[in-house]
Amino acid sequence: MIDQILNIDEMNNLAKQIAKTYKNGGFIGLIGDLGAGKTTLAKRICKEFNITENIKSPTFTYVIEYDSGDIKVYHFDVYRITNIDELYEIGFEDYMQEDNVLVIVEWANNILSEMPEDTLYVEIKYNDEFSRKVSTYRIENGELEYVNICDNNNN
Ligand SMILES: Nc1ncnc2c1ncn2[C@@H]1O[C@H](COP(=O)(O)OP(=O)(O)OP(=O)(O)O)[C@@H](O)[C@H]1O
Ligand SMILES: [Mg+2]
Repeated sequence: MIDQILNIDEMNNLAKQIAKTYKNGGFIGLIGDLGAGKTTLAKRICKEFNITENIKSPTFTYVIEYDSGDIKVYHFDVYRITNIDELYEIGFEDYMQEDNVLVIVEWANNILSEMPEDTLYVEIKYNDEFSRKVSTYRIENGELEYVNICDNNNN
C-alpha cells in the first residue's frame, strides 16, 4: 500500500494482518516522525501475539524483550542511536540470527544498512488528528517494492 489513509481502527486491522503474515516471526521496520504512531502500531502487533507485558517504547535501552506471548518479540527503538556500533554492543546480530522471533524496530531508517533484506517496512505519516498515511514496502537493492499487507482492498 502507498499512502493509504488509516484511522485508528484501520491501523488495528493492519496490525492484525501483519501479525497473521508474521506469525512465525520476521523483521518489521517502523518509520515515521515523532508522534506518527509507530509505538501504537508496535503495541497492537504485540497484542495480536497475546503479549501480556505492558508495552512501552524502549527509548533508553534500545530494546525490550517480551516473552509472555505466542512468539518472542524484540521491540527496538533506535531513535537515539548515533553510531551503528552501539547496535552491536547490545548484540543486534544475535537477535538477527534467532528463529521464530519477531523483531520490531522503531526508527528503522536510522539503521537501514543493518536491517535484513526481507524486512517489512511500515512508514507512517501524520495525516490529521484522526488518521495517518501508511505505506508498506520492502527495500530490494536500494529500491522500494511496495507490498500489500491487508486482505481486502479497502485498507
Ligand atoms: N492511525 C492513527 N490515526 C490517528 N491517530 C493515531 C494513529 N496511530 C497513532 N495515533 C496516535 O498518535 C499518537 C502518537 O502515537 P505514538 O506514540 O505511537 O507515535 P510514535 O511514532 O511512537 O512517536 P515517537 O517517535 O515520539 O515515540 C498517539 O496519541 C496515537 O493514539
Ligand atoms: Mg514511539
